[in-house]
Amino acid sequence: MNHVSPNQDRSAIQRKPDPCSFVIFGVTGDLTHRLVIPSLYNLAATDLLPDKFCVVGVARKGTSNDALRDSLMKGLRQFATRPVDDAVAKRLLECVTSIEANPKDPASFDALREKLEKLEANRSTGGNRLFYLATPPDAFAPTSRELGRTGLLQQKSGAWRRLVIEKPFGTDLASAKALNDELLKIVDERQLYRIDHYLGKETVQNILVLRFANGMFEPIWNRNHIDHVQITVDEKLGVGHRGNFYDTTGALRDMVPNHLFQLLSLVAMEPPIRFDARSVRTEKADVLGAIQSQSEEEALRNSVRGQYLGGIVDGIEIPDYRKTVHVKPDSTTETYVALKLNIDNWRWAGVPFYLRTGKALGIKRTEVAIKFKQAPFAMFRCTPVDRLSQNYLVISVEPTEGITLQFNTKVPGPTVTIDGVEMKFRYKDYFKAEPSTGYETLIYDCMIGDNILFQRADSVEAGWRAVRPFLDAWKKAGARGLEFYKAGSEGPAGAEELLGSDGRSWRNLG
Ligand code: BG6
Repeated sequence: MNHVSPNQDRSAIQRKPDPCSFVIFGVTGDLTHRLVIPSLYNLAATDLLPDKFCVVGVARKGTSNDALRDSLMKGLRQFATRPVDDAVAKRLLECVTSIEANPKDPASFDALREKLEKLEANRSTGGNRLFYLATPPDAFAPTSRELGRTGLLQQKSGAWRRLVIEKPFGTDLASAKALNDELLKIVDERQLYRIDHYLGKETVQNILVLRFANGMFEPIWNRNHIDHVQITVDEKLGVGHRGNFYDTTGALRDMVPNHLFQLLSLVAMEPPIRFDARSVRTEKADVLGAIQSQSEEEALRNSVRGQYLGGIVDGIEIPDYRKTVHVKPDSTTETYVALKLNIDNWRWAGVPFYLRTGKALGIKRTEVAIKFKQAPFAMFRCTPVDRLSQNYLVISVEPTEGITLQFNTKVPGPTVTIDGVEMKFRYKDYFKAEPSTGYETLIYDCMIGDNILFQRADSVEAGWRAVRPFLDAWKKAGARGLEFYKAGSEGPAGAEELLGSDGRSWRNLG
């Protein structure tokens, strides 16, 4: 494949972050082993870690440095996205120090501060610190409070202090607001990095580039030309061992106000005046704030909830959701959700956004499909053409990474016959990127102080505000309206009707 642009050497413009300490709370947990350390490894392997650097692993029950390093090395061997170079891994793990601290024991945070200061002096990190909370969500506020009390987050003498928080950010509007209020008493918004791993995906970041670095899409990116937008995140995996978390969360909370709304906001936002964190995040928050609020009656009409029954996915038997460990036997938690949303602004008035996501489905697929309005059929009336196929621009996020344009073309031959064809761009055909965890960019951005890919407080709250009517309406409805679907199927029948009643249908993913 030929590249037509001269801008191919990204590494040339990537700079090394400032010296810093990278403090991980929850260092013994799954997230650290599965994603954080493999991402730091990938950054080390591409020479994008600071020269003066240390990793401080904090756990409620500390271990020796050697035991922690061994455990992280095992995780790295299991989860690395590229072959592990022992020398690089050794260099990285030598930077790791284990420290015990527990927010229930304030003295342990005072001790943490002392140890950290000593370590920083030894490693000449200049006092720059990044605190990464890879902990269960109930530890976010208490840990931050202790970091605040001990002054560990206070920026002084030119040293920066940053706080990285994982999802879920609250469980509804009230809890998200409370967490924002609490954190913003301790740090400035610019010190806060609320991670949504969808923004680490190249294809998701590319939505902005597709829209705003090309002259041909933006003029037609509006209600005059677009009929509707479909956002799909279908997963094959069932809930597995996460029953405890999932049964109190459900598909909507788990996926919609965060991952699906990231996709929606990038597709629907207005052009930012600059490619900087302030402008981009303002436009994203504005469009989320423009999602039309719905009465509970409308919310019931414009949503479908489903729960999976046992079935086979990829030859593996998945039990009924209700038979999953730690799931209530009469649970009404949804494992599938489809929504119809409207955005109340000049660009999108009258253009529905249909969102769907579910677990234990027959296919794994994440995509955004922009459906354009049909061309007038008039000129084909006296030809053998009886229909035109649909014009879609499809942004494929997973498992295929690319962009597809579907359009009509004349079938070669003496008669006028028209068929739908596809023009396809696939990342793998053009770019030889090493497989990544998707977290490298996010961690690197935290270290260089670029918040563009992180959620701001107002966006998080706008997201929860937009889903509130559905959560409220479903709570009142209980089991009423909950549909069931077989694991391995396409999801509940109601999802088809949601579009069918508008004279539309989901794009065939088959
Ligand atoms: C997580 C959810 O945030 O995202 C999971 O908690 C979900 O339930 C996952 O499976 C999906 O991420 P991805 O990158 O596989 O689409």
